[in-house]
Amino acid sequence: MEPANSGALEALLKRGELVESTSEMTPDYLRELKHTLLVSGDTELISAPAYYLAARKAPSVNAFMTGIAIIQDELAHAHIAYHILEELGESQEALIFKRDPKAFRYPYAFDVPLESWTELVVANAMYDQAGFCLLGDIHEHGSYGPWKRGLVKVMAEENFHLRNGRNWSKRISQAGGEAREELQRAVDWMFPLTVEWFGLPDNLKQHSTQLDYRLKGLTNDQLRQQWLSTGFRAHSMPTRSAGTSTIRAAGMRSSSGGASGGRATPRWSPSSRRASPSSRCAHEFLPAFSRRSGAPRLPAFSRRSGAP
Ligand SMILES: [Fe+2]
Ligand SMILES: [Fe+2]
Repeated sequence: MEPANSGALEALLKRGELVESTSEMTPDYLRELKHTLLVSGDTELISAPAYYLAARKAPSVNAFMTGIAIIQDELAHAHIAYHILEELGESQEALIFKRDPKAFRYPYAFDVPLESWTELVVANAMYDQAGFCLLGDIHEHGSYGPWKRGLVKVMAEENFHLRNGRNWSKRISQAGGEAREELQRAVDWMFPLTVEWFGLPDNLKQHSTQLDYRLKGLTNDQLRQQWLSTGFRAHSMPTRSAGTSTIRAAGMRSSSGGASGGRATPRWSPSSRRASPSSRCAHEFLPAFSRRSGAPRLPAFSRRSGAP
């Protein structure tokens, strides 16, 4: 049987208006909204320890402070999502500190450790650009008012993160030599993992309740394409071009379907998936701050020394 306010919700969404309280939601809408918020909160949260390990390898105090500022932003972004979940009836404490680490939902990419400043800035250019596309879509098209407003702050800060990624990538690329080779290696392994952030290709996806409820506005393929276009064509991480002066991204195809070349809009191919990495975050970082009784207390941040 349809819930009592199903028709009212449908009409409200059709008019392009915003949902402001649980009284306007159907149980289905609430479930989808919570799931979307949880994936967003978990991804923001897990990016903090992943970025921290790499930020410790910053080449200067200034660069280290930039890394720490980004980490502080990511924790605030996670807090926004978990805080909204609390307003929707969940316990923030339980979500962050009492969940089984394996229950956290975030892209595979964050299970692969970032081990250098170069890897951190490539992550800023790729992962933060992906976050910018995904959250920008929710900010622009989303139907839940409180989250839409919360994302104003998030978008401004993500812009700072990806600018850090682009500026440093350009700087490292221009330095040439081993620095540039290291940058290329980072792009090679991070590119297919970032492609994965956007989920299944549209032709393999049956139906999107998130689109029906306007929890997002663009499909997986549209968002992935937007990421490919904004992250690689216009800025410091271009596709392979004539000569050897640009950084290429592994697994890319030009829009004409051939190997990457020129400045054509790159397209994603499912064959660029990389095998599942080991789940370092789930096994190491998350148990480290779990308050569940009997949870192992692992020294997640004591494996390396050398913070600037
Ligand atoms: Fe973020
Ligand atoms: Fe970010």
